[in-house]
Amino acid sequence: MATKTSERNTGFLFGDFAIRGNNKRLFVNKTKFIQLIGGLKEEESLSGLRRAVSDLEPNLRSVRSDRIGILNIDSNGDTIEVSQKHLFDQLNQIVESQTLERAKYYIGRVEKAMTEVRTNSINDVNLNRWKEYDDIRTDSLWVIGKRDSTGVHTAGYWGNFIPQIPNQMVKRYSKKGEWVLDPFVGCGTTLIESQRLGRNGIGIERQERVAEKARELIASEPNKHGIVSKVITGDSTQIDYKEILAKIEQRSVQLLVMHPPYFDIIKFSKDPKDLSNAPSLERFIEMMNMIVEKAGAVLDKGRYFILVIGDKYPKGEWIPLGFMTMNEIIKRNFLLKSIIVKNFEETTGKRNQKELWRYRALVGGFYIFKHEYIFIFKKK
Ligand SMILES: C[S@@+](CC[C@H](N)C(=O)[O-])C[C@H]1O[C@@H](n2cnc3c(N)ncnc32)[C@H](O)[C@@H]1O
Repeated sequence: MATKTSERNTGFLFGDFAIRGNNKRLFVNKTKFIQLIGGLKEEESLSGLRRAVSDLEPNLRSVRSDRIGILNIDSNGDTIEVSQKHLFDQLNQIVESQTLERAKYYIGRVEKAMTEVRTNSINDVNLNRWKEYDDIRTDSLWVIGKRDSTGVHTAGYWGNFIPQIPNQMVKRYSKKGEWVLDPFVGCGTTLIESQRLGRNGIGIERQERVAEKARELIASEPNKHGIVSKVITGDSTQIDYKEILAKIEQRSVQLLVMHPPYFDIIKFSKDPKDLSNAPSLERFIEMMNMIVEKAGAVLDKGRYFILVIGDKYPKGEWIPLGFMTMNEIIKRNFLLKSIIVKNFEETTGKRNQKELWRYRALVGGFYIFKHEYIFIFKKK
């Protein structure tokens, strides 16, 4: 039976909201919302339908956080979170439809988006609501101004990557409850992000001091999904990955993230097993190959391997470390899916040092490094 517009527009359908970035998130009582949207389909004229949809708008605009008490929206566990902007876009599309049939088709789409989840086999992105994932990047050029320093994330470990990198990769290439492996875990950025996103993590780090720091940071980060994170002190070129996994009753991982030293640009230790101390470029590549083969063997077929690496410019010649390692990986049963070019964040370097580099570049015929690469591979 059609619900009258006046009954529908009760003003207490929507509960709490939170501001995330510029996008207001609405916490909606799912049952009531579906009833309301479904009721729209009973409208018999396009003008009536348009009016009914327009009447919803004040409800969506006027939500206040104190409404949560009145609505008790959490009591039946039936709350869904929606992006106000995308919900409005969809409602506008209904209002702007030229035929009743088309408008009802769009209503059906909203209903489906709110009731059915459609994901693929490598992540939890709900494809029925794909427009809402404003936070997921899909372009190959990343210019990121500021590192995420929320929670336990710290820029204190020289050479760690910005958390936005593993955040994007974990969301895009793994599902909740799966396992992420990082053979160069450093101070644990990948595992901290994995923990936040509900993925289990295994990290390997050559330096015990650094591994211990990673364990401390991970333990201080809230673990609301109750997942497991293990940081092992060891040499990624030699470690027995199968044995590590067996200890936690796993046989494989579903995402591999590697952020190795960019050869000797930063010396992480004096340890000869540390890749930053490889005696030559050839040896560095060999060591990388060993890790790719061993860690790659425990990655499930069809799943993703992310390599974050930059180039170097030692004696007047650009050494394309990134492409050199990429070429080796392609030879080893991996398909290249994407190359992302990411900017380096603004360094704290003094203005006169920047000018000196600019002068050197002008004289020496080269360009100053401002980027690194994120290579995305899929295991064949
Ligand atoms: C570029 S950093 C990774 C930083 C990490 N992504 C983070 O955000 O903290 C590379 C790390 O690899 C470690 N490393 C170098 N050689 C290694 C090896 N053979 N086995 C395990 N770790 C190694 C270094 O100690 C260093 O912490």
